[in-house]
Amino acid sequence: MAVAKSSRRKREEEVTKFVDRPGRTRKRALPWQRWIDAELGFRNYWYPAALSRQLTEGGCRPVTLLGEELLLVRNGGRLYAIEDRCAHRGVRFSKRPLFYTPHTITCWYHTFTYNLDDGKLRCVLNEPGCPLAGKLGVRTYPIEERKGLVFVFVGDIDPPPLKCDTPPGFLDDDLAIHCAEPFEVKANWRLACENGFDPGHHFIHNWSPMVVGTDYPITMGYVSKPERRREAMEFSLDEPGPKGFERKSESWEMIFDSTIPARGAEPAVKVTVPGAQGKTPEQLQAMVSAAVATSVGLWLPCGLRVAGFPTPDITHYEWYVPKDENTHLYFQCGARRAESEEARERWISQEGHAAWEIPAVQGFTTEDRFAREGLQTFYGHEDGWHREHLYGPDVEIVLWRKFASEQARGVQPRNGARSGAP
Ligand code: FES
Ligand SMILES: [Fe+2]
Repeated sequence: MAVAKSSRRKREEEVTKFVDRPGRTRKRALPWQRWIDAELGFRNYWYPAALSRQLTEGGCRPVTLLGEELLLVRNGGRLYAIEDRCAHRGVRFSKRPLFYTPHTITCWYHTFTYNLDDGKLRCVLNEPGCPLAGKLGVRTYPIEERKGLVFVFVGDIDPPPLKCDTPPGFLDDDLAIHCAEPFEVKANWRLACENGFDPGHHFIHNWSPMVVGTDYPITMGYVSKPERRREAMEFSLDEPGPKGFERKSESWEMIFDSTIPARGAEPAVKVTVPGAQGKTPEQLQAMVSAAVATSVGLWLPCGLRVAGFPTPDITHYEWYVPKDENTHLYFQCGARRAESEEARERWISQEGHAAWEIPAVQGFTTEDRFAREGLQTFYGHEDGWHREHLYGPDVEIVLWRKFASEQARGVQPRNGARSGAP
């Protein structure tokens, strides 16, 4: 995360701005208005759209990204991403995909036939010589396949290199990536970003199968110590990316018990998290000391990186890809350095499943899915963005809202997305 010397001063100013101004009042316009406007995501970014294994040769797969319907195609050894909507009368190609050549798609309704690479109408099979040929077309999208994932660029600018839009390290040559099966979560994508980084949300993981009955230190919430926040946060603002920030776990306050105070005849009641019950202060301290050194970072457009999770040698990556206003696609990957091709293959085919997917995906992030879906009614239908009451630890969510609002390349328009128009 080195920052060029010439931009160091700017970076420091930015950091000061983000860290020192939590932005509390709601009488002013909210300082994270672009975040609120980005219901359908940030435009002009690369997004994971599918796993490589979900697209076999000759196959296709419809996906919706940021409200836009696409068809991913693998034909003749090449990948394509094309608007899933015929220019003639708008039916979806994916309802009955027809590929008479490896380079074209033919609409099942009236035989309009398009190039897969540039989307231009090449011919109409039932009207040879149709004058619309070469004049009409459908949108196509830049597409790239790396590390077992298929990425699509949704935007209108020349796409930057993929590494600018993925959390740091993800594309490193020696990193072996094990991909879990992605799935849809019924919550807006922004709620997922905020949940992933939220220091107070760790409370929900007291009930995660991965930690029950173990000495893994889950608490009332990993709340940052305010006096250490500045040194614990590391911002990356290099152009054109990746842009994001990370915080280190040593800055966390680990609270295992707390007290509901007395009121009148009601006595005070001490509440202890399940994993700490029956343990002595010394044993609790040992749990804290043994805590894995993790760092958690959010990266534009919607990526989370947790280094050192669930064990120090593993890095957990996830993306919350906007599908529509109420749904995001949840991609999760477990990564480990591999010194040889054999080690890489072992991680991808077997070891990643046992060492990462079972504990982290099956045994931990299920709680996060539950939490995001629990937020959706309020934020999706009850104006939660303006009715929420934030508390101290939410300063870190606010940091992200402001950071993303200021740094994102573009906001996906609410009405333009379904038309495919910028
Ligand atoms: S709707 Fe596609 S050819 Fe008519
Ligand atoms: Fe979580």
